Amino acid sequence: MKKEELVFYEEYRSSMEKALKAMDDGNVKMAKYHLYRSASILLKLAQMSRGERKEKRYRMAERIVKIADSLRMGENAKTKVELKFEENRCEMRSVEDQVSFERPNISFDDIAGLEDAKREIMLRSVLPLKYPEKAKKYRKTVGGGILLYGPPGTGKTMLAKATAGEVNAPFFSISPSDVLSKWFGEAEKRIAELFEKARSYDLSVVFIDEVESLVPSRDIVDSSPMNRVVAQILAELDGMRKGKGKVLFIGATNIPWKLDPAVLRPGRFDVMIYVGLPDERARRRMFEMFLKDLPLDESINFDELVKMSKGYTGADIKSVCEEAKSIPFFEAVIEGKERPINMSDFIRAFEKIKPSVDEDTMKRYEEFSKTKVRNFT
Ligand SMILES: Nc1ncnc2c1ncn2[C@@H]1O[C@H](COP(=O)(O)OP(=O)(O)OP(=O)(O)O)[C@@H](O)[C@H]1O
Ligand SMILES: [Mg+2]
Repeated sequence: MKKEELVFYEEYRSSMEKALKAMDDGNVKMAKYHLYRSASILLKLAQMSRGERKEKRYRMAERIVKIADSLRMGENAKTKVELKFEENRCEMRSVEDQVSFERPNISFDDIAGLEDAKREIMLRSVLPLKYPEKAKKYRKTVGGGILLYGPPGTGKTMLAKATAGEVNAPFFSISPSDVLSKWFGEAEKRIAELFEKARSYDLSVVFIDEVESLVPSRDIVDSSPMNRVVAQILAELDGMRKGKGKVLFIGATNIPWKLDPAVLRPGRFDVMIYVGLPDERARRRMFEMFLKDLPLDESINFDELVKMSKGYTGADIKSVCEEAKSIPFFEAVIEGKERPINMSDFIRAFEKIKPSVDEDTMKRYEEFSKTKVRNFT
């Protein structure tokens, strides 16, 4: 999806440039052609995107069509088009190009299990920052990067956010394949800006998703956009060590066996932590959290829920709870009868929602986690 989006985006930008050029040449017909074309590509892009970006793209496509229509108006049209195009460009910049961050209001308490990962993050980053005097005494410094790996839906992104929440730091997020389409043409500059902004705070967390796509190019002449982005991100990570600012960086991947060794060297991601399926205790905690303050029937048996959810990820358990809740909710809406959630709602939910990670894939992760020697520096 992302690659496809990028292709369309390139098309769109080039079509817009052509439209402007045609205006410069005074070729109204050609300009109209390229404007309509840009609008139709933008519509496709809107269909591929979500949320605010989707809305903006739809609106922009509409405006481009209006500009193209107004081209009939002759002499003044050109300046008008240029103005509108500039306006659109600005609008686009403000939505798609801005370096933004969040301030998560979750903490480690909101995450069930993952004790190893929490401890590691605490030791290598949270505690030395919270207790600088003690850290100095025991020479515990804020260590490079922490790489979380494991199947989808196990809480990797959430843990990174919770780390930021835990130390009350801004949370910046990058995914290498996303930045190309999001910051087309200026990706490297924007990445540099992002890290610079991150460093401008006393403390911040930079989360890098899809770390497996950080594959440094061995070929000096290959300066494709993706390779330049990768090089830029790696250079920024290397820069962290030089103590420019206190930035914790946390990476995540679902395909650890595809990682490039260069990414794992000290100073980049120098510790790997497996984020696997939740154990019984963690599953119990999840049910308690996801069902907190809900009307529950006496028939609900947490021991049973824990048993039934063996092999389920955190995200799967969340879906099961959502599904179970929706049964009495639906009845309440349709039949006007309100009742608490009961055990048979859960039995139905478990029938419908199966574990998202199959056993073979799980085995592959387990095997990998055994062979991978944890590199504590
Ligand atoms: N350990 C956990 N504790 C509490 N909630 C969890 C946990 N793991 C997963 N969840 C639930 O599942 C959702 C998805 O988790 P998250 O996005 O962190 O997964 P992920 O490991 O980053 O997945 P992906 O590899 O697909 O990016 C969370 O928003 C949360 O509701
Ligand atoms: Mg994630």
